[in-house]
Amino acid sequence: MALQDEPLLELKAVHHAIGGRTIVEIEHWALRPGEHALLLGPSGSGKTSLINIVCGLVAPTGGEVRVAGERMTGVSALEKDDLRRRRIGLVFQTLRLVSALTVRQNLLLAQTIGRRLRDEADVDRLIGRVGLSHRAHGRPRELSQGEGQRAAIARALVARPALVIADEPTSALDDANTGRMLDLLFDSAAATGATLLVATHDERVRGRFAHRLELAARA
Ligand SMILES: Nc1ncnc2c1ncn2[C@@H]1O[C@H](COP(=O)(O)OP(=O)(O)OP(=O)(O)O)[C@@H](O)[C@H]1O
Ligand SMILES: [Mg+2]
Repeated sequence: MALQDEPLLELKAVHHAIGGRTIVEIEHWALRPGEHALLLGPSGSGKTSLINIVCGLVAPTGGEVRVAGERMTGVSALEKDDLRRRRIGLVFQTLRLVSALTVRQNLLLAQTIGRRLRDEADVDRLIGRVGLSHRAHGRPRELSQGEGQRAAIARALVARPALVIADEPTSALDDANTGRMLDLLFDSAAATGATLLVATHDERVRGRFAHRLELAARA
């Protein structure tokens, strides 16, 4: 298989149960580079649980997860941490920026952790690209909601991950800001060559993605 055909994310017979209750069950699903995809399903269908499994934060009770050809299951916690650090950028609904640091310092920290290098010019370029140059030295609590989301996206992208995962990035936004958030995610992904996986139950987001993984409601 040619390298560019290799899935960026592959799920094989992934099963996860808590207390005997199945919360995730996927026979097979693959995401190839550039195939921006939605992770869809009603509340409680397992979207966040699956994201935690893909990121290696939760070990599924069965099955295999591969990220860029490397195993995220059946390997040590250290190997999972390393794979996540190298390949995945996460955008949380609650932004989880470090409150004591400025926007610029948050990005420099994420860059150093993810890439083990420090490139201030690259951080400044990315801050400019998300329209935050005037807020680069502001702290998270001083940002508007939209500015905070821009900072969180920039932070997720700064280590140039191949896969960017966003969990419900638009659920708290009005229509205009939902459109802007998606534009920003697509533009930023294009600029850094990342592929997006966006979890949502937001109907407004559906039309923008050609690929999807749909999770069924669970009783
Ligand atoms: N640590 C846990 N212990 C017990 N049950 C859990 C745990 N984590 C998730 N669940 C259950 O698994 C199911 C899926 O939860 P999950 O958070 O993945 O859903 P979701 O699709 O992300 O929902 P939402 O759209 O509301 O964010 C829910 O019924 C939830 O209660
Ligand atoms: Mg969720």
